[in-house]
Amino acid sequence: MSNFGLAPSVLRFYGETVDESRRLHRSADGRLELARTKELLRRFLPPAPATVLDVGGGAGVHAEWLVGDGYAVTLVDPVPRHVQQASAICPAALGDARDLEAADRSFDVVQLLGPLYHLPDPADRCQALAEARRVVRPGGLVAAAAINRYASLFEHVTYAHLHTDRMQGPVSKILRTAVHDGEHFTLAYFHRAEELADELRNSGLTDVQVFGVEGPAWSLVKAVEQQPGDGPTDELIASAMTAARMAEPYPELLAASSHLLAIGRAPVA
Ligand SMILES: C[S@@+](CC[C@H](N)C(=O)[O-])C[C@H]1O[C@@H](n2cnc3c(N)ncnc32)[C@H](O)[C@@H]1O
Repeated sequence: MSNFGLAPSVLRFYGETVDESRRLHRSADGRLELARTKELLRRFLPPAPATVLDVGGGAGVHAEWLVGDGYAVTLVDPVPRHVQQASAICPAALGDARDLEAADRSFDVVQLLGPLYHLPDPADRCQALAEARRVVRPGGLVAAAAINRYASLFEHVTYAHLHTDRMQGPVSKILRTAVHDGEHFTLAYFHRAEELADELRNSGLTDVQVFGVEGPAWSLVKAVEQQPGDGPTDELIASAMTAARMAEPYPELLAASSHLLAIGRAPVA
């Protein structure tokens, strides 16, 4: 079976190491990511029913609530386990963001909530966004997520091990090169917010905006969950959600979010 030229570490990570169907439910920062992604997408989605192509949709965690909201979702992902899991939620097929089977202008919304951060080569990200732009109808919505360039700096403080020699090397390397290719995760690319916006604009999308998904307080919530104690209270999580909303007008705070979500539109003419 073709692996779409995907890095073996990506297939291994999602096929064997983690169960992606649980990622956004099992940790406090995962739940923050899910709640804020929903909140932001619902702000821009056309009214249901509308068609959504969920590229790199994983096990279908976002497809599930979108179907619940009345959208006709089709999911594409290169990992067989994901396609099998997502098939219980919506039509799902094996595929790659860089070479979509969907026809030109055939979807109201195309979302890529994952593929860009597994494509470290800028030409691959450019190709994935060009495909999204080809497949979305004029005036339609493209939403693309990225992992923030600085996310690992904050994350490894929450595990209270950033000061160890073992961690400083790999995290410094991500900060310096924007690429991770080692243990514990897959081959991954870490975006700066302005770079993500430029990539969407360069693909011909207009009205581009970038949001911090979890906001500047996500790592406080994660630290409370990781360190001994009773874990984050509902009030702390509600405060972090509020901080994410209050931070939206201040682009300098984008650097502190774990994920970024870019929104763009296909030109009408
Ligand atoms: C962190 S998961 C995100 C899954 C889901 N979209 C979500 O937000 O919960 C990243 C997803 O991107 C997919 N992916 C990686 N490289 C891809 C590519 N070249 N084309 C399409 N999907 C890809 C992976 O298989 C995985 O399902």
